[in-house]
Amino acid sequence: MANKDLVARLTDINKRIGYIPRGEVEKLAKELCLPAAKVFGAATFYSLFSTRPRGAHVVRFCQDAPCHVAGGRAVLDAIRTTLGLEPGQTSPDGRWTFEMTSCIGVCGVGPVIMVDDDVFGNVNPERVREILKNKN
Ligand code: FES
Repeated sequence: MANKDLVARLTDINKRIGYIPRGEVEKLAKELCLPAAKVFGAATFYSLFSTRPRGAHVVRFCQDAPCHVAGGRAVLDAIRTTLGLEPGQTSPDGRWTFEMTSCIGVCGVGPVIMVDDDVFGNVNPERVREILKNKN
């Protein structure tokens, strides 16, 4: 099976469950006749996948240089203070997970954040607070 098919299957699991549990890695490895280590490697390589449970909403901050020089630091601080979380943390109520990500391919409109599947460009601290406040 081609790598893109493995990624597609992992995407389905990640979307259905919210993350990729160890049991699903082993099940998929058996199904595809692949070593579990290869499936786990793919599950941990891509930043859009998680092997740990996440909150109902996942906020991702692009940490790469083009977004950084466009004002990313202030945006990062706004996410931290608005959610009360550090990167890698999930809120105790399970509502939010905050993650850092590498470039998501829209550098021309940095700083960029993602909230679940939605991408927001040209964000500033005020807009971050508004986006997060309006997320149900
Ligand atoms: S560096 Fe942030 S989207 Fe490319």
